[in-house]
Amino acid sequence: VSFTTPDGEELTTQAEAGETVLQVALENLIPGIIGECSGNLSCATCHVYVDDAWIGSLPAKSPDEEEMLENASEEPTASSRLCCQISITDALDGLHVRIPASQR
Ligand code: FES
Repeated sequence: VSFTTPDGEELTTQAEAGETVLQVALENLIPGIIGECSGNLSCATCHVYVDDAWIGSLPAKSPDEEEMLENASEEPTASSRLCCQISITDALDGLHVRIPASQR
């Protein structure tokens, strides 16, 4: 999984299938991903913009995720996800996400 940080730095990580993108970010101390609620869908401090090429590979958002995204510190778009809700699979090898500048 690779991340563009709020400062524009590109960081690439190793991830295991079954981990969430939030776990990968926290393990690798990726700046801008806080995960205040530890993946319980009650913050939005794990907001990321998923690259267009990968959007179709992700499971659909739950209504709860949609609702929580409305509380994100930066305007959500069609490519917005809460990264605690993205579980890594082999099909996501190479996933790239951008962390909102507001999460600096
Ligand atoms: S970590 Fe709180 S919603 Fe994802």
